[in-house]
Amino acid sequence: MCGIVGHVGAEKATPILLDGLRRLEYRGYDSAGLAVHASDGIEIVRAVGKLRNLEKALSEKGLLGTVGIGHTRWATHGRPSEVNAHPHIAGPIAVVHNGIIENHLELRAELEASGFTIASDTDTEIIAHLIHRETQAGHDMVTAIRHSLGHVEGAYAIAVLSEREPNRIVVAKSASPLVIGVSNGATYCASDIPALLPYTNEMVFLEDSEIAVLEAEGFTLTKLDGTPVSRRSRKISWSPVMAEKDGYKHFMLKEIFEQPRALEDTLRGRLDRENADIFTPEIGLSEDDAKRIDRVILLACGTSHHATIAGRYWLEELAKVPAITELASEFRGRDAVVGEGDLVIAVSQSGETIDTLMAAKEAKERGAKVLAIANVNGSAIPRMADASFYTHAGPEIGVASTKCFMTQLANLLMFSIWLGRRRGTIDDAQAAELVEGLARIPHVIAERLRETHLMVTDIVRDFSEARDVLFLGRGLSFPMALEGALKLKEISYVHAEGYAAGEMKHGPIALLDAHVPVVVLMPQDRHYDRVSSNMQEARAREAKIIGVTTAGDTQAQSLCDRFVEVAPTHEALSPFVTVVPLQLYAYCVADHKGTDVDQPRNLAKTVTVE
Ligand code: G6P
Repeated sequence: MCGIVGHVGAEKATPILLDGLRRLEYRGYDSAGLAVHASDGIEIVRAVGKLRNLEKALSEKGLLGTVGIGHTRWATHGRPSEVNAHPHIAGPIAVVHNGIIENHLELRAELEASGFTIASDTDTEIIAHLIHRETQAGHDMVTAIRHSLGHVEGAYAIAVLSEREPNRIVVAKSASPLVIGVSNGATYCASDIPALLPYTNEMVFLEDSEIAVLEAEGFTLTKLDGTPVSRRSRKISWSPVMAEKDGYKHFMLKEIFEQPRALEDTLRGRLDRENADIFTPEIGLSEDDAKRIDRVILLACGTSHHATIAGRYWLEELAKVPAITELASEFRGRDAVVGEGDLVIAVSQSGETIDTLMAAKEAKERGAKVLAIANVNGSAIPRMADASFYTHAGPEIGVASTKCFMTQLANLLMFSIWLGRRRGTIDDAQAAELVEGLARIPHVIAERLRETHLMVTDIVRDFSEARDVLFLGRGLSFPMALEGALKLKEISYVHAEGYAAGEMKHGPIALLDAHVPVVVLMPQDRHYDRVSSNMQEARAREAKIIGVTTAGDTQAQSLCDRFVEVAPTHEALSPFVTVVPLQLYAYCVADHKGTDVDQPRNLAKTVTVE
């Protein structure tokens, strides 16, 4: 995790770097720092805590200069403190780093034995000393970095300044993301696209084992071994306004309200309403490939994992293909059975989550085909995959994922319909119903959003003090229950469990009493009667029931202490509507408690550590 940013050009670097860090703060926010070339060397300012502390420190000690690098940290090695904050300095060298150097202890011992004093507990400072050591041997910055990285094992994206070469920044990467932005008279780098959107939308994505020299007039790119690389920039269609709060109190709330738009953008051009089919040339599978798939393995982490559980249910039901979901971190390194005939779908909003990336790579090496579902164009997972089926949610800034989750559901359902059509497992009428239903979903969600927000705000007044909350659902509502519980944990720090409703009697029922709210998802689907029974079982233990019910379902509502209404839908589409009140529930509890909704403690949006 961590966010890095850099600028070389004619403008003052500090405001640009701070602005970039503000847009990257979702990646980590326990300390931050800047290094800028001044007239008499590199000047550094660092501060513990949120970016505002760095801004305060900078208002006391301004940094002039037009070439600089910045960093916002999510601690891995060494607690959050000023000395552990980046940039790290060694001799004439300043470094910012995102990633983890796995052999840092070994390198630290070696450097200390040869007389280097290492001030911090971080792995990053080691890189600065390695580069310094190489410059002492007379090498220029690029050669020094090349040699140094040859000693390093692990993941990194680095940006480096040298007092001896004040008009350039050198960047390099392996596993962690790095994008270069080019504009007239200035060149930038950052961990993620939104940091650069106010300045340019011409971007170049660095690949692993590449190193680039950034100067005001442009950049040169080579492999670490010196082989030249030529890569044209891509035009990114996101606008800077998409990454602003737009009058909402928090990004998360804005992103919940953006869901209809995100869905529309994701569905656009893909629903073939005339033929009751899905138009997805980008998925890179032929009609024959579709018929030959023996099994689908869905890999993901966190919220994206919950989307894949719904994806599994859709694939089995609509395409009659065996499908399994795997937490990417558990799939890795355990010798899972995978090979030719398997289609792996790697789902990740950032496209950078290291566990998902490495798990998908492992599967690809063993002969599986990999399809990426990601939101960030050109990110690492789509780059390694055989094909990519992008979601078009726009930049998601809130750490707790909402609109990206919604669009992942859309892509997984579209893919299931597409596969079902190719395999002859859904007929015209069924497909037409689903395609038409999907086309209406953005409108169906939009129509109720404000009302749902009001209903949930009102309910939360009565339940915001609850210390434990249980979320129950069956079938497609089960992964939504998991997602509701995760959202609540993430941003309000309330203990919450998502459970398959049928499993409640095998454990969680022991926790129930009058102090435990139980959120029961009960759309009118094939599981309705059994979920009603589970709800009654919870009621009998005096738990307070908050129902997520279909509008007008007075029978269910009469059994709930409080309820929220969702629009009636085709049962396969229910996750799109039932998850919205759960997202709002988590948001309202967190807002009521006054937690940091967009940047919850200890979390980061893009997890590039294992
Ligand atoms: C982090 C984020 C979650 C996200 C998960 C997977 O934990 O806080 O919101 O679901 O990573 O991220 P991905 O980018 O792979 O979807």
